[in-house]
Order: sequence, then structure tokens, then C-alpha cells
Amino acid sequence: MATERTFSILKPDATKRNLTGAVNAVIEKAGLRIVGQRRIQMSRAQAEKFYEIHKERPFFGELVEFMTSGPVVVQVLEGENAVAKYREVMGATNPANADEGTIRKTFSESVGENTVHGSDSLDNAKAEIAQFFQDSDIAG
Ligand code: CMP
Repeated sequence: MATERTFSILKPDATKRNLTGAVNAVIEKAGLRIVGQRRIQMSRAQAEKFYEIHKERPFFGELVEFMTSGPVVVQVLEGENAVAKYREVMGATNPANADEGTIRKTFSESVGENTVHGSDSLDNAKAEIAQFFQDSDIAG
């Protein structure tokens, strides 16, 4: 297994409920290292670009609205097999289908407000990290 980096977002429902530390504790306990982290207010343009792949989906407007409704924490996570590992730690997109102990099962209230985002492939991780971080912002 290789050491990888993946991109994570703690979404507005997490920051609104003061869950940044609690979610980070789950991430770190799973062996993923937070090597980059910034709290930002996403602009509409940033959210539309980030979720461009979903732009034809019926929930796209709602998704952009939600992601710009409050601050988010963008992160770079590093570890063995980090992309797949973080998806395991997050649990299924819909919290109703997520396994016990996962972030979404523990903290999320709906499929729209599902607390965290994580890259679904190494290529997407690289592109997503590049949208929000410069190399000099990441300290492994
Ligand atoms: P994320 O991993 O950030 O990638 C796309 C997001 O779209 C997903 O998490 C969900 O938050 C959101 N999403 C997926 N399905 C729905 C839906 N049916 N209604 C609202 N949002 C959704």
C-alpha cells in the first residue's frame, strides 16, 4: 500500500454544530494525518466549480446553496491508502445507509447535509487539493 493524500471538506452542518474537533478526532483515530487545514467561506463560483460533475443532477442547486450557507473546513489528509480509507471512515453518502462508527452515521442528519466530503479517486484528490491548497500550505 502506498502513502496517499486525499481531500476532505467538513461541511457547513459540521461547523454550525461545533463538530470540527469531534470529526477530526475520528479522522486522526483512524490513522489519517491532517497535513493541511483551512476554514473558509466557499464562494458560489468555488462550489459550482467543485461540484461541476453534478451540475445536471436535480440536487445541484440545493448542494451549492448548502455548501455556501456557512463556513467549511477544507483539509488534506495523508496516510496509507488514504482515499479509500477516508471513504470507509466517512461511511455511505446517505447516513441512513452508513455503517456504525462512521462519521456520517454518528453525526449526519440527511443525504444533503452529510457532514463531510472525501475524494472518490486519487486523480480527483489531486485536482480537488489543487483547487484549495498550494503546496506550501501542506506540511506532511
Ligand atoms: P459529496 O461527497 O460531497 O458529493 C456530492 C454531494 O451531493 C454528496 O456528498 C451529497 O451531500 C450530495 N447529494 C447526493 N445526493 C443528494 C440528494 N439526493 N439530495 C441532496 N444532496 C445530495
